[in-house]
Amino acid sequence: MTGKILVTGASGHLGARILHHLLESHGVAAAGLVAGSRDPAKLGELAGKGVETRRIDFDDPASLTDGFSGIDLLLIVSTDALDAQGTRLRQQLAAVEAARQAGVGRIFYTSMPGADDSLITFAPDHLGTEQAIKASGLAYTIFRNGWYMENLFMALPAALAHGQWYSSAGQGRLAHIARDDIARAIAGGLASPPAENITYTLTGDTARTTDEIAALVRAATGKPLEVVHVDDAHLAKGMEAAGVPAPYIPTFVSFDANTREGKIAMVTDDARTLSGATLTSLADFLKANTAALAG
Ligand SMILES: NC(=O)c1ccc[n+]([C@@H]2O[C@H](COP(=O)([O-])OP(=O)(O)OC[C@H]3O[C@@H](n4cnc5c(N)ncnc54)[C@H](OP(=O)(O)O)[C@@H]3O)[C@@H](O)[C@H]2O)c1
Repeated sequence: MTGKILVTGASGHLGARILHHLLESHGVAAAGLVAGSRDPAKLGELAGKGVETRRIDFDDPASLTDGFSGIDLLLIVSTDALDAQGTRLRQQLAAVEAARQAGVGRIFYTSMPGADDSLITFAPDHLGTEQAIKASGLAYTIFRNGWYMENLFMALPAALAHGQWYSSAGQGRLAHIARDDIARAIAGGLASPPAENITYTLTGDTARTTDEIAALVRAATGKPLEVVHVDDAHLAKGMEAAGVPAPYIPTFVSFDANTREGKIAMVTDDARTLSGATLTSLADFLKANTAALAG
């Protein structure tokens, strides 16, 4: 490795754990790392370990010109802007263009599985960013991050409270992966980049139906949980009745539709290979989080 590694979004859940694993699991020296955030004041712990911190805000071009200067390997962590106005794509395209102008040695990006063939409403943000990276002429590594096990905390507490989990995913399968396993894998990919351009898909090791996941939840919590299979329209109505904000409902319903249509059923060995560690099983994750699942 010739120069510094910059991780954007370093105060977020994923960015923070990627930096942790660069230091602790993959033996990268703090002096070779830069942590970027809109608010570097949140990066005190990393600064204390000797990691340089910089202010990076994809909405502020000046922060990108300064922030990407002297960087060899740049990880763009996708942002959390999920409004329907194309905000996230605009932010990420600004980051890719600034990386091109700064002449970074390689660009890395956190995308989603099947970004080019997905029913999920925000897939175009990821596909557009992947396309811009490929068009930039820079060397690249794309990490298509599978669904976090932590996403289950969105639906399961309410479902367990009522003993019923409404789903329109049918018999579609999904191989959840712990967020920390994704972080460790990405850190491995940053610490030892390949010579060629590459796209990884980081999934868990077993793709399960919602019924199979519910069985694991029952075993972990000892609580009753029945999957109620409905269609997309019913699911949307139920979310509306439960008070889910209207702008988010199409996105949440598209998760289930995408699973039902088999578009996120893939299982790869990429995460285990890159991280060099055994992945957390869904059963163990659920057992370790029974309190959070209880809501
Ligand atoms: N695969 C999955 O299941 C899944 C689930 C949820 C999210 N995601 C995606 O993966 C990303 C990381 O996940 P996470 O769990 O770490 O989410 P998170 O904790 O919500 O982090 C959001 C990230 O977005 C960054 N960000 C927001 N606005 C930005 C801007 N204007 N410029 C630069 N960075 C900005 C934040 O960085 P700072 O605050 O440090 O600037 C932060 O790292 C998310 O942002 C989202 O794109 C994937």
